Amino acid sequence: MEVIIVDHPRDAGAIVADAVAALLAQRPDAVLGLATGSTPLPVYDELVRRHREEGLSFARARAFLLDEYVGLPADHPERYRAVIERDFTGRVDLDPAAVVGPDGLAADLAAAGPAYDAAIRDAGGVDLQILGIGTDGHLAFNMPMSSLTSRTRLKTLTPRTRQDNARFFDGNVDRVPTHCLTQGLGTIAESRHAVMLGFGRGKAQAVRECVEGPVSSHWPASVLQMHPHATVIVDAEAADQLA
Ligand code: F6R
Repeated sequence: MEVIIVDHPRDAGAIVADAVAALLAQRPDAVLGLATGSTPLPVYDELVRRHREEGLSFARARAFLLDEYVGLPADHPERYRAVIERDFTGRVDLDPAAVVGPDGLAADLAAAGPAYDAAIRDAGGVDLQILGIGTDGHLAFNMPMSSLTSRTRLKTLTPRTRQDNARFFDGNVDRVPTHCLTQGLGTIAESRHAVMLGFGRGKAQAVRECVEGPVSSHWPASVLQMHPHATVIVDAEAADQLA
């Protein structure tokens, strides 16, 4: 596991954009793994800038999302499919049909997880997975105590997660879906290069536990310690508790 400490999240954006650009130069039809949330935004902004100003093209690339709420209508603005389109994929030349997320409207939700893992496998696997660490060390919706070998599956959202995410639903926790489909930690661990980002003091404990603590489902992102090619990029605040 390589740990890079940057002065500013912007610098992380440039480092990850370099890795994405190098990958696309080598393999224009590369498979990207995309996280939603605030942490990857400097990466997406830099990729959009390079697309607009330097001609970086995603025309043949494909992308898989980490997770999705269950039951939100197709036109709901908080579906992660809609969020990633606003934040990134709709701002570059990625083919909308090549951007895939777990099907939160599937008739058979139990089958939707394995179907998603199969789709990732059929695409050849994720070449570069972008991840944001949660304050409790979660990755995607794999909260503490999620199995380190878990696959994409249906999960019940915890009361805390629903409360945390109520801000995206007019502050009304009752509007937050009760379930999600999330890639498992085992699924995420199969990406060929995993890049995990964390910024700000609020992520410092999680970064310490996941980077330097024992590999444990208490701190889900610690699974990346076993990954053959994991890069952790943090700012000085998030790195504050590292030895
Ligand atoms: C994103 C995701 C989450 C976030 C994490 C950090 O698809 O599933 O794991 O990466 O909650 O969120 P932010 O980046 O908003 O601090």
